[in-house]
Order: sequence, then C-alpha cells, then structure tokens
Amino acid sequence: MGILRLSHVDIKVPDMDLAAAYYSEVMGLGITQRTDDRIFFKCWDEEDHHSLAVRYDPRTGLDRFTFKVEREDDLDDLEHRVETYGFAVHRISEGEEIGQGESIRFETPSGHEMELVYEVEKVGNALGKLNPRMLPESTMGIAPPRMDHLLINAEEVGEATKFYMDVLGFRLTEQLLDAEGHQIGTWMERSHSPHDLAVVSGPNGALHHFAFWLDDWDHVRKAADILAYNAIQVDVGPTRHGVTRGNTIYFFDPMGTRNEVFTGGYRPDPDFPTITWTEDNIGKAVFYYEGEINERFVRVHT
Ligand SMILES: [Fe+2]
Repeated sequence: MGILRLSHVDIKVPDMDLAAAYYSEVMGLGITQRTDDRIFFKCWDEEDHHSLAVRYDPRTGLDRFTFKVEREDDLDDLEHRVETYGFAVHRISEGEEIGQGESIRFETPSGHEMELVYEVEKVGNALGKLNPRMLPESTMGIAPPRMDHLLINAEEVGEATKFYMDVLGFRLTEQLLDAEGHQIGTWMERSHSPHDLAVVSGPNGALHHFAFWLDDWDHVRKAADILAYNAIQVDVGPTRHGVTRGNTIYFFDPMGTRNEVFTGGYRPDPDFPTITWTEDNIGKAVFYYEGEINERFVRVHT
C-alpha cells in the first residue's frame, strides 16, 4: 500500500524541436504523444504512457514530479495525510491530464509540486508479453530501459525529508549530515532501490537532476561514447557514487536540465538500516573516485 514508484517527471523546455531531437535521438526515448505545447516520452522497457513530459516555456525548469500509488484508495488516504499535515490538495479529474486517470497534486515543504496517481495508461514495452525478445528490435542513442529516480533541492532538507517519510511513507536509505548533525542530503526509496527520491541543500522548488537506469557498467561506457559523439556537455563522470554505490554520468540536455544515467547500487529491503555520511566525507559520498565535488554540480539546478 502507498507509493509504488516514480511515475514521471514534467519539465519546461524553451525549444520543443530541440527537446524532441535530444530526448529521442541522443537519449533514445520513444515519443508516445505530442501536442502543440507538450511532448510525452517513455523508455523502451516501460509499460506506462510516459516517464518524461516536456512543456514549452521560455524558461527551463521543473513543473512537477509524479509518483504512482499501489491501490486506488491510496489516493484518498494520502490526500487525507497531506491535508492533515497542513497542505492543500488539488484533485485532477480523469481526462484532465494526458495519459493518466485521476490524481492529486499538492505543494511539498520543499516548494515542489508533487502529484500522486493510480491509473496511468498502459502502452506496453518494446518487447511484448508473449515469448518476448530480450532487446528491442532497434534503438537510437543511449536507449535506457527506464527512468530511475530524481534529486530535488530544498532549503531545509530535514523538514522536507520528514514530510516525504512521515506523510508519504518514504524510507531513508542514506543521509549526509553537516558538522552540527543536520541533514544536508537524504536518499529515500519506495521501490527497493537505493533511492527513488533524493533531497540536497539548495533553493526550494528546484530540480537538481533526474536519472535513467542502465543495466550495467558497459552500458554506462557506451553512454559516455554517445554523449561525447553528440557534443553533449558532461558535468561529471563516468564515475561512482559513495552514496548508493551506483555508477553514474551527469550531463546537461541542450536546454540546461541536468540528466544522469545510473546503474548498480544495492537492493535495500524495507528494514534496511540507514547509512550515514559526514560532511568531512562529502567528496567521497557523492563522487567516490574523485573524492571531491565540482562547483557546477553544487550550484547548477533548474
Ligand atoms: Fe541521481
């Protein structure tokens, strides 16, 4: 019961054609629907209508992020919990939003618009369900099998994390503490992965990045080749995180939103004891091989 997993991320892009070209030809996502001002993308192994939606806006930024709940009555339950916590909840009726049924939207203490949805239109993956093949028939670019997680900014990481845990039921896998013991980074999960949602210090409402899953390290290497060939600005990597133990590359889409490809990490059960990193180890926590964080990684968000 409760939140199942990340459903989709909605971002603003100032150039629709550039967004379509980059996310389909370089990232290798499929376009499931396009309207005058929106494009909906999915990865080849995803079953649902979309995991990324872009909307035309002169400024790059985050519209909202959406998690999927396990049961229909989870929407009522979580609506009540969010309202009891003191935040107004807005109901979106079936048919109002492309590709999905009824949902609830609310602002979180970190200043983000969050959405919870139960029903998302199933469009099927690229393999089928009867004697399926192992790989899609053809792909372009990096072609990740699925979206994995997102990292958002918050002025008060501890307060934001308390909301996501106490009200929405996220479990804390790892935390980064400053010298006074305050949380400056937290990693939370609902889907038995090291993180579905993470929060780090920064301006309220901002998006640091969203990440696509790759199946192994060799696919990360191939992704780096594709990024370099297409002259995509790489932020950091390929390298490894101390937090999550995942392998990673950070890079920017041509409109300025940070993307990540991610693989590896451990598989936490719901009783997984939280791992703590201290600020004097922040370099290794974030980039284990480099042992330090570049200024751009800390300062740039959308
Ligand atoms: Fe990430």
